[in-house]
Amino acid sequence: MTTGPATDRLLVRDLAQLASPAGISAPLRGPELGRVEVVDHAYVLCEGGRVASVGRMRDLPPLDGDLLEVDGRGKCAIPGLVDCHTHACFAGDRVEEFALRARGATYEELHAAGGGILSTVRATRAAGEDGLRAAMRKHLGWMRRAGTTTAEAKSGYGLDRETELASLSAIRAEGAIPTWLGAHAVPPEFDDGDSYLEFLLAEVLPEAARLAEAADVFLERGAFDVGQARRYLEACRASGLELRLHGDQFTECGAIPLAVELGARSVDHLEATGDAGVRVLAGSEVTGVLLPACALFLGRPMPPARALIDSGAIVALATDFNPGSSFCESLPLVCSLAATQLRMSVEEALAGCTVNAAHVLGRADRKGRIAPGFDADIVLLDAPDWRYLAYHLGGDVVAETFVGGRRA
Ligand code: NIG
Ligand code: FE
Repeated sequence: MTTGPATDRLLVRDLAQLASPAGISAPLRGPELGRVEVVDHAYVLCEGGRVASVGRMRDLPPLDGDLLEVDGRGKCAIPGLVDCHTHACFAGDRVEEFALRARGATYEELHAAGGGILSTVRATRAAGEDGLRAAMRKHLGWMRRAGTTTAEAKSGYGLDRETELASLSAIRAEGAIPTWLGAHAVPPEFDDGDSYLEFLLAEVLPEAARLAEAADVFLERGAFDVGQARRYLEACRASGLELRLHGDQFTECGAIPLAVELGARSVDHLEATGDAGVRVLAGSEVTGVLLPACALFLGRPMPPARALIDSGAIVALATDFNPGSSFCESLPLVCSLAATQLRMSVEEALAGCTVNAAHVLGRADRKGRIAPGFDADIVLLDAPDWRYLAYHLGGDVVAETFVGGRRA
């Protein structure tokens, strides 16, 4: 129930619970990752797009003036979810490939046969910037309905100048955070990775660096090797971009040492990471972004989340939303997978897709918590206990979403 006029003040009252990662520091690691503050019978008051105060209903001060009041009875508030790794800027689909995989083909075989990423490249090149904006709107709408209020999105399905730049522009224009994944695959016009990289760095990087916040590379057998990844990332860093890597998805090819050497924001996937990689990541400031929906979708082993967390690594969770390896936009489902497959606590899962994901995107001072001064990005769960976020497997758990204190 909602009453009151249009205003920039919002009061969500009578919440069964309000849950937010404890404290205000970021990133969270070790035991801190599992600390969530829960307020029972709570309210949250927002003003000017920010959280003004949070507390128990019995401590709610008298309020006058214009106010949008939202009845939180039977609901729980959590911070708006932050998806720090998606490939949302694509056209077409890969449903045929999915059906072939269901009958036994592997993802790597389809990729090697010219399907996989390159089949999405063909559809994405044909879409034009307007088509990509429409695709972004549709995909961000799906994410929003699943509780995502901040989303990163990568290019990487253009692999030519025009479509890479159109992808980054479309991502920005639709309100997502753009990452340039020029080094995703070698397109058919080039004979090898080296000549493609030469083109990328000379012809695309100068403009991509103006549009994107970070650069990403697919470091993997059959994609780019460690020398190529270093060359690409060093050039991107020199142009002012933050660095991210797709690493250890199928094989360990040196992604973690390279990420640490270059001071990357994150290294993402880690399904194939062994003990030595865990130790190196744990001793660094690089975030390991875990993508359990991708491992599930491809029937691959899960990343070593427990070993990473217990040895002190910074971890975040994301969907990897894309048409080939993770056609899944739901962070609540990712939290369920974290709790059931990664042996993470529900508290760790929440921090993974709020505070630590915001840290990967350089926004942990404003996003990922419901605390005074933070952006008023709030998800109301249709649940009597906030842990339904992970408990309700595949459930329709999000009741409504607020972004900057406004109903989204
Ligand atoms: O993160 N691994 C590389 N890139 C994507 C998949 C892209 C695709 O299959 O279209 C990923 O899983
Ligand atoms: Fe990815």
